[in-house]
Formats: sequence, C-alpha cells, structure tokens
Amino acid sequence: MISPSPYIFVVGGAGYIGSHVVRQLLLDGYRVLVLDNFIYGHRDILEKALNVEYIEGDMGDRALLDRLFSTYKIDVVMHFAAFAYVGESVTDPAKYYQNNVVATLTLLESMRAAGVDKFVFSSTCATYGIPSQIPILEDHPQSPINPYGATKLMVERILQDFGTAYNLKSVVFRYFNAAGADPSGQLGEDHGPETHLIPLVLQTALGLRSHISIFGTDYSTPDGTCIRDYIHVNDLASAHILGSQHLLEGGESETFNLGNGSGFSVKQVIESAYEVTGREIPVRYEARRPGDPPMLIGSAEKASRVLGWTPQYTQINEIIAHAWLWHQKRHGNTSSFLSGDATDRESKDVFDVRDDSGYFNFRRASAA
Ligand SMILES: NC(=O)c1ccc[n+]([C@@H]2O[C@H](COP(=O)([O-])OP(=O)(O)OC[C@H]3O[C@@H](n4cnc5c(N)ncnc54)[C@H](O)[C@@H]3O)[C@@H](O)[C@H]2O)c1
Repeated sequence: MISPSPYIFVVGGAGYIGSHVVRQLLLDGYRVLVLDNFIYGHRDILEKALNVEYIEGDMGDRALLDRLFSTYKIDVVMHFAAFAYVGESVTDPAKYYQNNVVATLTLLESMRAAGVDKFVFSSTCATYGIPSQIPILEDHPQSPINPYGATKLMVERILQDFGTAYNLKSVVFRYFNAAGADPSGQLGEDHGPETHLIPLVLQTALGLRSHISIFGTDYSTPDGTCIRDYIHVNDLASAHILGSQHLLEGGESETFNLGNGSGFSVKQVIESAYEVTGREIPVRYEARRPGDPPMLIGSAEKASRVLGWTPQYTQINEIIAHAWLWHQKRHGNTSSFLSGDATDRESKDVFDVRDDSGYFNFRRASAA
C-alpha cells in the first residue's frame, strides 16, 4: 500500500514567506492545510494562486486548534504567524507578547495534547541584537534589542524546554532579510504597511513613493551605507522543505541561520534596482538611525552541512528582478498596498526602511 504524503499544517500561510513555502510544498506533493486569520495575509493568494485548503482562524484559538488536530492527521506544523513590525513592538509590546508568544504557546499546547511532535519555526536574526562578530554563527550570543526579537527568542526557549520535557522536535530557522518573489510572478511581498528595503525601492521606481531614504552614509563599509544579508524567499522555502524532511526522518531538534552568506549595501540594492527596472529612483540622504549596525551577514554553513541546503538565487540583481516582476503585475491590479494611498503612508512616515534584524526609525515609533 502506498503511504500518503506527509500532512503539513502551515500557520500564517497566507503571508509573504508562508505562501511561498505553501507553493513549494504543493509542488513537492505534500498535503497542506493553512491556518491564517488574514490580519496581514491574503485570502486571494490561497484561493487563486495556490488553490490550497485553508481555515480562517486564529492561532490562539485553542478550541479551533483542538478540532483541527483531531480532524486532520497532521505530521508537521510550520509556524509563520507573527507580528513583525519592530517599531510597533516597542510602542505596543503587549500585542507582540500576546500574539508571538502566548498564541504560539497555545498552538504548542494543542499540538502536545494531540500528539503532534514536529515543529518548524520562523525565528530571526533579530534575536542576536548588535553582533560582535561577522559572519554571525548560530552560537553567537542572543541579545535582542527590541520586543519583537525578544518574542522570537522566548519561543526558541520554549521549544528547547518542550523538547526536553515533552520530546517535541523542532527546527528553528533564523532568517536574515527575506527578499524577492517567486519567478512565476504569482506571489510576492505584500506587507501593509511595507517596511522592507527592496519593495520600498521598487515602489519608488514605480512612482508610488517620492523617494527612498538612505539612513547614514558614513558607516565603515566600502560605500558608507549599511550592509545586509538578503535571502531569496524561494530559498527560504526550500530550506523549510529540507527542515521538515529532517524531522520526518527522525532528526533531532536543530537551529539554523538562513542567509545568503554575502551582504549587499543599501546603495548596492538601489543601484541594482535601477539596473533592473531602468527607472529613476530618487534618493534622500538622512542621518544614521540609532542602533543600526554597519553590517549584518549570517553564516548558513550549518544549514548547508546538516540539511544539504544550497541557496539558488544569490545575486542581488536576480532577487530584485523577481521582486520587480511581481511588483509590476501587482501594480496592474486594483488591490491593497499599491492602490494609491502611498502618499498617505508617506505623510504618516511609515515607510522608513527597516530590516528584520530589528533596527528601525525611532521617529516613527514615537510618532505612532
Ligand atoms: N520577512 C522577513 O524578512 C522576516 C525575517 C525574519 C523572520 N521573519 C518571520 O517570518 C514569519 C513570516 O514573515 P512574513 O514576512 O511572511 O510576514 P507576514 O505578515 O506576511 O505573514 C504572517 C502571516 O501570519 C498571519 N498571522 C499573524 N498572526 C496570526 C494569528 N494569531 N493567527 C493566524 N494567523 C496569523 C498573518 O495574517 C500573515 O498572513 C514571521 O514569523 C516573521 O517574524 C520574517
């Protein structure tokens, strides 16, 4: 008898990274069930682009989770559902601890009651705080400088303790800056509001923003602007498949950085976007932001050694070209974040560049 393919429960699968992982899972023949409350996710992506079974609901709803785990024979839970606005996590930490920690604990408790013991978690390089060495290895001290990073570190700790006490097996992925889009142009980065550099630069190229701000040009880097590690979202997806396989084959709990291994400066990203789009990208130079380290680059050597993971899209032009394809298609549609309210957002100053390492413009946080 042929055994059915593993059943993967993707929590937060209507978001940017989750939707790309769902697509890869479906292509690879996994059975997939998505849970999303659509606070930030996109129902149309699940229905139209992915045609995947989904439940609308909250990860903190214990009764719903218990029902789902008793109805579906889930093998692995992948967890993408979090709030990830660093500035907001400073001004409203309760919201972040509630969703990112308390609701995650509810999910883990429901899994435990149902005997589901494999978990893949989206953590972040923001758990490292200000790095003391580059490239950052997994054993670098973790000292987050904002509540968002702290929530992720807390969940990492919960997973360790659940592993010891209840034999939960987990793979923790600490992403650097997720970027790019599926080359099909069907999926892309659609955060609202958007805070990530590449989509902001592309929105500027599309004329939806008047300019892109560069915060600090006098860092100790070759061109004076900050350097970050951008990892293509489809490479994140392939790592998730490998991480689940690792658990399904009986592997032990592990933590992995997921990064490109090489960094690109803010100026390099803007220059690359100019080359890819052929559009003017007006730039405004601003003062450094507090807490921005000059360089954040992760070593993903462990993921390649243990999981056999090799990022496929390591060139910044390629990452931006895929993002651009999706941005152009999106612009043709009438939906969400490109629907003409960019000016409003600019006037509210919510467009400042933030990378997931957790450094952000404090002006926005205090004005919010
Ligand atoms: N984007 C990055 O560069 C980056 C870097 C490091 C880590 N991460 C982490 O990766 C994960 C995914 O990030 P993303 O950029 O795809 O974010 P996203 O906001 O696009 O996706 C998150 C999804 O989770 C859903 N969600 C949130 N809380 C929920 C809840 N309580 N119940 C059900 N659904 C809920 C949202 O509606 C959304 O669809 C997050 O955990 C984030 O912290 C992202």
